[in-house]
Amino acid sequence: MHIAVVGLSHRTAPVEIREKLSIQEQTIKSSLKSLKEHNEILEASILSTCNRLEIYTVVRDPQNGIHAINDFLCEYSGIEFQELSPHLFVFHHDEAIAHLLKVAAGLDSLVLGEGQILSQVKKMVRLGQEHNSMGPILNRLLTQAVSTGKRVRSETSLGTGAVSISSAAVELAQLKLGQSLGKDDLVSLESEKVAVVGAGRMSRLLLQHLQSKGCSDLVLLNRTRKRAESLASSFPELSVKCHLLEELDNCLCNCTLVFTSTAAEEPIIDASRLIPLKRQGFLRLIDIGVPRNISADVEGIKGVESHDVDDLQEVVARNQEARQQVALQAEGLLQEEGRLFLEWWDSLEAVPTINRLRSSLEEIRAVELQKALSRMGPDFSARERKVVEALSKGIINKILHTPVTKLRAPQGRNDRQNALSIVELLFDLQDPKASDQ
Ligand SMILES: NC(=O)c1ccc[n+]([C@@H]2O[C@H](COP(=O)([O-])OP(=O)(O)OC[C@H]3O[C@@H](n4cnc5c(N)ncnc54)[C@H](OP(=O)(O)O)[C@@H]3O)[C@@H](O)[C@H]2O)c1
Repeated sequence: MHIAVVGLSHRTAPVEIREKLSIQEQTIKSSLKSLKEHNEILEASILSTCNRLEIYTVVRDPQNGIHAINDFLCEYSGIEFQELSPHLFVFHHDEAIAHLLKVAAGLDSLVLGEGQILSQVKKMVRLGQEHNSMGPILNRLLTQAVSTGKRVRSETSLGTGAVSISSAAVELAQLKLGQSLGKDDLVSLESEKVAVVGAGRMSRLLLQHLQSKGCSDLVLLNRTRKRAESLASSFPELSVKCHLLEELDNCLCNCTLVFTSTAAEEPIIDASRLIPLKRQGFLRLIDIGVPRNISADVEGIKGVESHDVDDLQEVVARNQEARQQVALQAEGLLQEEGRLFLEWWDSLEAVPTINRLRSSLEEIRAVELQKALSRMGPDFSARERKVVEALSKGIINKILHTPVTKLRAPQGRNDRQNALSIVELLFDLQDPKASDQ
């Protein structure tokens, strides 16, 4: 058995490839099912976010397992392997474990230390458990990744300060506005007529950052009014006008800065929508949706400037230096957690021998107990029988405790294998697979 991850991220693939491999929650179940149908894949889980798609697996054989995951990715995205493969990364075993811990800690994120990734890793665990695609190994690994993510955030200052894709999007708007005014700094958004399209988690963060950057009123558009109104009510100090998406054209005509962050699978703004509009002035669009909410064909339309998530690199690079220092502190923690997992993994080697040892002693206990009870005859009460049975079980458990703990304890591979061979020899524990051969 072998742990492997295959995936792509903002580091390896542009948004136009990532959006073809965005697996929405409603298709996770069928995707996990098709992965698990493959004989090579024993356990599987999927991490799908705006910046990455990663398939974590336990496979029988590394090469065949990776092949099976690649087949799934090509089939899902409709992209030929030759086109997709330059964007894919593959990590095996200890590297796969180290990668997952890094992702959960936010150290592989576009915005270093952002907090949303930890919720997304938790969601991967929940969906894997709900759809029964994980076994003991991924369960243990992913649960440990979640606790590592929490640990990094509580024991280092990596998570302090409001950092997210949304905060970077607001900074990009400030930077671009500043540049258009001939300034190289982040400027206030006070003068902008702002709209936010979408009323989910990322829009909530957008409103939060817009407010802190000088914006006092904005238009909020959403597919359903209730969610927009509920979001607006969380910001009593912001004047928010809520509208349905039907008002989008109106808003594109009158606003100067529009953020889009909906989970729509197709673009909601494209050239054919924008060109006929009688717009009042310059329009800056910032899209953090993946798949993108704004089609690439709007580029080049006069008076329109459009940015997608990949353009956030520009602002992110400005803030990374200080955070890189903190990231170094977190690396030590990740190594410790990775080592703990690998120790647990190594200890699994002892499980078959421990199970055979238990069964062998249990067999002796049951036979000897039966002999003793039949010798006692009918005078022995049911209560007394139970006491003797509990006594026999107690003795076996006490005898087993120390050797089992020692066989599971961290030790060199050769030492464990020697200890296992001695136990097998002394107790005459046959490996049933070995005798089949
Ligand atoms: N979560 C993150 O960390 C993160 C980071 C960066 C980028 N993103 C991207 O940002 C976008 C929003 O993510 P989120 O986490 O805020 O999602 P979310 O909390 O699930 O909210 C989804 C929003 O999209 C709207 N929506 C869904 N389907 C739609 C459709 N077909 N047409 C129009 N509106 C639709 C929903 O409207 P209703 O209220 O009417 O359902 C809701 O406002 C996604 O594309 C995601 O990939 C997310």
